[in-house]
Amino acid sequence: MHWVITGANRGIGLAITKQLLKEGEKVTVGIRTSMPFEHINLTVLKVDTSNPVSISEFAEKIDEPIDVLINNAGILIEERFPNVTEEGMLLSFKVNTMGPYMLIQECVKLNKLKDGSKIINISSILGSIANTGGTTSVPYSISKAALNMVTKLMAHRLRNMYVISMHPGWVKTDMGGENAPVLPEESASGIINVIRKLDKTGVFLDYTGNSIEW
Ligand SMILES: NC(=O)c1ccc[n+]([C@@H]2O[C@H](COP(=O)([O-])OP(=O)(O)OC[C@H]3O[C@@H](n4cnc5c(N)ncnc54)[C@H](OP(=O)(O)O)[C@@H]3O)[C@@H](O)[C@H]2O)c1
Repeated sequence: MHWVITGANRGIGLAITKQLLKEGEKVTVGIRTSMPFEHINLTVLKVDTSNPVSISEFAEKIDEPIDVLINNAGILIEERFPNVTEEGMLLSFKVNTMGPYMLIQECVKLNKLKDGSKIINISSILGSIANTGGTTSVPYSISKAALNMVTKLMAHRLRNMYVISMHPGWVKTDMGGENAPVLPEESASGIINVIRKLDKTGVFLDYTGNSIEW
């Protein structure tokens, strides 16, 4: 299978990429810096997911039909009420919401996806309106809640594919921090397992396959 993953140079995206390559899969990554290793089954392309022109150029370069698209690139800007800035809000929206949407739209327009393709938007429990406690980063939670709407909208429009939101767990990465209980490798293998078994669209799941309320 051919997997496309954004933000794969570190964190959860890197762990997913390593695991897939170990399993013999073909992976195309979209990153804005460089990968820490090379592999025969790994294609490395550049993308800045906050920039629609860059997203378009990236999508054009994807050279074979996509079985699984993982919109993983994301940012956490720690701005809480009452200290939220316009800059924090807009950049969070660009990377966490607009980027994933535009990449899906470009891939559809350029016929890079196909019947049965799986589109995984890496969201967060912090984007769940039902679960919110009100104490998180405001730009982050709002932009991930909006990403969940991207999932729902696309699940309705792409009836021949699967489109889901995925909470990867609280994971020990640069974003998740040292206190996070889940290792990137555990999150990655859970996510891959859930994707392989996926038979529903328009759902919000965590990395163990449990449903999360929107
Ligand atoms: N860690 C957690 O506990 C947790 C919990 C819930 C959800 N998530 C979600 O899981 C995903 C991965 O998180 P992580 O913990 O692996 O974060 P991370 O370690 O901070 O890595 C983030 C990745 O996204 C990339 N990225 C950010 N902005 C980008 C842009 N404009 N263009 C291209 N790539 C960009 C980064 O690339 P650079 O190296 O170039 O910056 C990096 O590869 C995110 O969507 C995050 O919101 C994480």
